[in-house]
Amino acid sequence: MSTVRIAPSVLSADFAKLGDEVAMLEQASADWIHVDVMDGRFVPNLTFGAKVIETLRRRTALPLDVHLMVVEPERYFDDFVSAGASGLTIHAEVAPHLHRQLGRIRELGATAGVALNPSTPLSAVEEVLVLTDLLLVMSVNPGFGGQQFIRASVEKIARARQMLDAAGSRATLEVDGGINRQTIVDCWRAGADTFVAGNAVFAAADPGAEIAALRNACAHRA
Ligand code: DX5
Ligand code: ZN
Repeated sequence: MSTVRIAPSVLSADFAKLGDEVAMLEQASADWIHVDVMDGRFVPNLTFGAKVIETLRRRTALPLDVHLMVVEPERYFDDFVSAGASGLTIHAEVAPHLHRQLGRIRELGATAGVALNPSTPLSAVEEVLVLTDLLLVMSVNPGFGGQQFIRASVEKIARARQMLDAAGSRATLEVDGGINRQTIVDCWRAGADTFVAGNAVFAAADPGAEIAALRNACAHRA
């Protein structure tokens, strides 16, 4: 059985003390740091760019899992990898040349991920699975933290698990949006292995303990 990976999203962190927040996450045994980049075009919201990734890179040795919610994501590949991104995940909805784009991310030395909105079918990635290191199933419509988990995502994750297994893919299967102690268990049982959590971690009285609680919620629940 694979191990559970918890990737807290710094979107819900206190930006005035971002460095300390990241140090706290590392101390609390987070596996990855999830970084939500939004451009105000693919999604209504605006967040951060290469400068913030560089700042995070200086404060932690943890992998930086960069989720690009932007149009024309290829414009940022070089800068973000140079800034210290470990993996770049692009949205299939705005990546008409997924084959070339995923190949380029790998060429730069980062892990190549594809994200699917709730309304986007799994077939959008079927032809590029050999180039995909990570498949991200969005369980909310991207753009904001703290939204409610879309239930239909559980069944989609189960189908994604089957698709990856059938293709012999060892890609990470990540889920993002509305993950908490309850929803994580269903997603884990459906076959996801990596869980983004923003609000659940940062709204908790003890964010470090919440990371452990999320991880423990999955223990022995295959
Ligand atoms: C949503 C982002 C998520 C978000 C998750 O557009 O991609 O990573 O931070 O936040 P929660 O866990 O609060 O839904
Ligand atoms: Zn995200």
